[in-house]
Amino acid sequence: MSQNLKIDAARAALSLVKDGMKLGIGTGSTANEFIRLLGEKVSDGLSIIGVPTSEKTAELCRELSIPLTTLEETPQLDLTIDGTDEVDEHLNLIKGGGGALLREKIVAFASREMVVIADSSKRVAQLGQFPLPVEVNRFGLKVTRLALESIMEEITPGGKIELRKSGSEPFVTDGGHLILDTFFGRIPNPKELSSNLLQVPGVVQHGLFLSMANQIFIAGADGITHLSR
Ligand code: A5P
Repeated sequence: MSQNLKIDAARAALSLVKDGMKLGIGTGSTANEFIRLLGEKVSDGLSIIGVPTSEKTAELCRELSIPLTTLEETPQLDLTIDGTDEVDEHLNLIKGGGGALLREKIVAFASREMVVIADSSKRVAQLGQFPLPVEVNRFGLKVTRLALESIMEEITPGGKIELRKSGSEPFVTDGGHLILDTFFGRIPNPKELSSNLLQVPGVVQHGLFLSMANQIFIAGADGITHLSR
């Protein structure tokens, strides 16, 4: 069921892709559905070029013969299509459940438009139930963690922070960093939290995508809801 919804959302976003476009290509299970549909279009003759937001996405694109480029060669993109872990009514997002948040944010920033695809389970009244991923430098991990604990204490006293693992080892991002998952439960002021997190020197980036998404296609049992800002 949920897989079908992901495909529905992906198909809706695919209708925005036009010949000659430079695309940012997202990461995750919903983005993968988009990539599969895009691959079919490309094999039917659609001419696009894409910048992948992760090594995993790059691999899938290569399997499907989707032409790829880099931000060095193509620093301005027309459209990025990506999934999300949460979206609120202002189209603010939490991303990074798959660990690709840094490249996802850089690619979205390089794009004229960011279009998000999701099933209806991702829609929330307030961000924060999904643990916010914070990508951190390995150096000084303890210092960074203590700083995050003190930020969390103001919003969610006693909230949990976990170093993301891959099996028994720390999860390492494509950029070679670590991820601290921060369990806020609720984020009443995402903008303030974003700026507080970015003041911590060891924080490379966080998964709050604020005022970045221009459109979202949310697929539910009763069809597609399209929101834009
Ligand atoms: C990857 O780092 C994430 O930002 C994904 O875009 C997000 O986790 C959504 O993934 P799913 O489509 O698999 O839920």
